Amino acid sequence: MFIVQQEINFREEHPCLIVGLYEKPVKFSGCLEKLDELFSGYLTELVKEGDLSAKEKRIFKMPAFKKIGAKRLIFVGLGKEKDATFSGIREAFGKVFKEVKKAGLEEAAVYVDSFVSENISPVDAAYALSEALPLSTYAFSGYKQKNAPDKQLGGLVVYCQTAEPEELKSALTVGYILGKGTNSARDLVNLPGNMLTATDLADYSRKLAEKYDFEVEILEKEDMEKLGMGAILAVNQGSKEPPKMIVLKYQGKDEWKDVIGLVGKGITFDTGGYSIKTKSGIVGMKSDMGGAAAVLGAMEIIGEFRPEQNVVAVIAATDNMISGNALKPDDVITSLSGKTIEVRNTDAEGRLVLADAVTYAKMHGASFLVDVATLTGGVITALGVKTTGAMTNNEEWFEQVLEASAEAGERIWRLPIFEDDWERVRSSEIADLNNSPGREGHAIMGGAFVGEFAEDTPWVHLDIAGTATSDKATDLGPKGATGVMTRTLALLVERFSKINEKVEPVS
Ligand code: BES
Ligand code: ZN
Ligand code: ZN
Repeated sequence: MFIVQQEINFREEHPCLIVGLYEKPVKFSGCLEKLDELFSGYLTELVKEGDLSAKEKRIFKMPAFKKIGAKRLIFVGLGKEKDATFSGIREAFGKVFKEVKKAGLEEAAVYVDSFVSENISPVDAAYALSEALPLSTYAFSGYKQKNAPDKQLGGLVVYCQTAEPEELKSALTVGYILGKGTNSARDLVNLPGNMLTATDLADYSRKLAEKYDFEVEILEKEDMEKLGMGAILAVNQGSKEPPKMIVLKYQGKDEWKDVIGLVGKGITFDTGGYSIKTKSGIVGMKSDMGGAAAVLGAMEIIGEFRPEQNVVAVIAATDNMISGNALKPDDVITSLSGKTIEVRNTDAEGRLVLADAVTYAKMHGASFLVDVATLTGGVITALGVKTTGAMTNNEEWFEQVLEASAEAGERIWRLPIFEDDWERVRSSEIADLNNSPGREGHAIMGGAFVGEFAEDTPWVHLDIAGTATSDKATDLGPKGATGVMTRTLALLVERFSKINEKVEPVS
């Protein structure tokens, strides 16, 4: 995938050479001086005449006319050097790799030194490029009979004179694994509901467990009945497809303690149940297992990195259907925790399945929790489609998640849960909890409902209803599934294994 080269004399033969250009103003100085010399100063001229610009993410392609070994040069503008950010460089790489793929080139060379600046070390640049490569060139294979074979940009030669090759290689591996894990999550989300049932999700998880030597437990409907998982069973009641509660355990410490619990909503299709969705609102609900996909994507990355951290992943998988047996508004159900729930709205099913999944994660020893779910349309109204909504019961734990999300470049923003919000989810007259206490602040109601089951375990809720899919292509992916939060979760675990338990687990 990546070949690291320390020396460059521009005689090496490649289909194209990718060069980053900072606006300082643009000068072919430093590492780029020699390149300009080989073109007899023509590159400087192009800049002067305004053809070649270093404005952020501006792409400029030119044939190399045999002046250098590479056939073509692709320049990508990086903006002002002092304003350079890791996220910006990652997006610039994404944009340029998309161009290379579009041109049908299967191999390229990157001159990493040209991306290095005061803020961006060679290792940062390598990390950014290796993450951007799989993310930006991802495509879902789909089901067309005549699928034009996608030419993949499969190999990159990475030139860098300013860092140790070994350091560079490990950064390249880390970024690539993060990108690949995200693409696995994207694949799962893009699969239609008939192609990915709860049983399929369980089979997928079993294979993942086998590959990475995770302990695996799949609860069948009968197991759930025995345990009293009345909430997930209620959601599944109207379906012909059996539910699955999927548990994967990765033990990275000698003892099973300080366990991070990653909990994912795995609704493989959400019709809304008897509180049925509108005919436009129902389309796209195959993505209602985006939380489960993020957790599984993160587990793949964790399986590759093998950090010194214990992790239990719990995925509540079922579809939400209608039949003579289905759950109805007004029904009262009893969750695994023993808490009773008045179901006011069968379309607020995510919080029901998460209730049992969160309790089950705690039964498996989780001492820190993150749940990820396409939970509410309300979060889209509040934050739009580029920002994941977050809620918490613990400031320090939230800080950890926030830092991981910043490194991943996955924006999250916190919504509050005040005392009166907790009271609203407890507002049922006939049960302990109400699954839909009204439209006001309903992203918060969704979060608070799940938080009721976390109790005093440090917990962060991530509502990805707006961010799990995108109706536009970005520099780091096509339209469709984004795989959002996969990298945040994986980085959270990886980073947490390296810090000295800043957050006190509950005993
Ligand atoms: N799966 C939906 C949330 C959703 C909406 C995801 C749009 C992706 C895009 C969830 O199960 C749901 O229907 N939530 C309801 C909750 C309401 C009934 C309290 C909603 O947000 O409208
Ligand atoms: Zn729903
Ligand atoms: Zn849903």
